[in-house]
Amino acid sequence: MKIYRANIIFTPTPEHFQIMEHGFVVVSDNGLVENVYSELPSQYSKEPIIDFGDKLLIPAMNDLHVHAPQYRNQGIAMDLELLPWLNTYTFPEESKYKDTRYAEKMYRRFVRDLWRVGTMRTSAFATIHREASCLLADLFREAGMGAYIGLVGMDRNGPDTLANTVDEMVRDQKALIEHLQGQDLVRPILTPRFVPSCTPAMMTAYSQLAKEYNLPVQSHLSENRSEIAWVKELEPESTCYGDAYLRYGLFGQTPTLMAHCCYTEGEELRLMKEHQVFVVHCPTSNCNLASGMAPIRTFLNEGVPVALGSDISGGHHLSIFQVMQYTLQISKLKYAQSEGKMPFLTLSEAFYLATKSGGSFFGKVGSFEPGYEFDALVIDDSDLNMDNYDLAHRLERYTYLGDDRQIVKRFCRGQEIPEPRI
Ligand code: GUN
Ligand code: FE
Repeated sequence: MKIYRANIIFTPTPEHFQIMEHGFVVVSDNGLVENVYSELPSQYSKEPIIDFGDKLLIPAMNDLHVHAPQYRNQGIAMDLELLPWLNTYTFPEESKYKDTRYAEKMYRRFVRDLWRVGTMRTSAFATIHREASCLLADLFREAGMGAYIGLVGMDRNGPDTLANTVDEMVRDQKALIEHLQGQDLVRPILTPRFVPSCTPAMMTAYSQLAKEYNLPVQSHLSENRSEIAWVKELEPESTCYGDAYLRYGLFGQTPTLMAHCCYTEGEELRLMKEHQVFVVHCPTSNCNLASGMAPIRTFLNEGVPVALGSDISGGHHLSIFQVMQYTLQISKLKYAQSEGKMPFLTLSEAFYLATKSGGSFFGKVGSFEPGYEFDALVIDDSDLNMDNYDLAHRLERYTYLGDDRQIVKRFCRGQEIPEPRI
């Protein structure tokens, strides 16, 4: 057992922070939170205490949508909308991951940088390539950081250099499943890129895999107007874009993540609620690709689960703290646009999305309630905290102005995670 003492902040519910000034968290040997306390109960009085002094102790970040093989394009090439952006910049870069040596060089940096920004659980898109996808999984395992790894299926409307057949996808998907057996920190996730990239035969193969192996699904949904219009042409029978996944059993039949949802409403909103499909909100990407502003307040009001994603390289920043900032700011623009009818998000709500809500896709992750896996960050914000602010304000300032320099320790499943080698 380990007992840590620090300024503890977490969000059991979106509405409020639970805050314990110089509180205690007791973590069992299997990495689970036993409980948090303001005063340590006498049963623990003989145990050693690891005291983090005046530092903050918060749940670690969860990134539920990121493209690992777009890392080289981070922060560049954001001068086009989604569809031409994919063809011009993204598909050519992903094609390079056939070369496993190139993949290793880039993926090592990617995993190291997730560590830097305090993201301990990630749901990542890889590419169509089996070797590079297994390698990405190995790097997360080596690091001790949790992940879902998505070997991507795409058999239409892309370049020949970045296409797999249905048979190749199924073969490689099974190889990845096999590769990840015997542990559950790093797991496979079915990843049809998006409807325009996948023929009905590809979607059918995915639905069979989902059933046979009971695997979760991740994809893209209603990101941009041209994309939505294209899906209508490609899948004229579907009642909405989401229905094009639903008819293949890829919309909540197993746990499902759908990135973006900028234009989700009506029937699609109803289906997401009914099937408890996650919206993964990627506001940095939605700004950079001029996609739109997702109605997050509506999703929360309707009881649709919401998580946050960096969506590198549509998004430019890997830090989920940065994504929280954009989440708050975009919700304020939505508020202004709706003339105050759609209340903007609060800091505790954005923090809840980044921690407990996103974490729930991995199990009991993202909170310090009893039974949760201890995924945590220790933050030394002394250089940002000139004025003895209260703890909620210190977390707010860190969210807006902090970076990896202030993160002094990272834990995943109770283990302290050292910096991964690159
Ligand atoms: N839709 C299909 N592929 C992609 C991608 O790589 N990034 C984003 N933002 N949207 C997509
Ligand atoms: Fe994406």
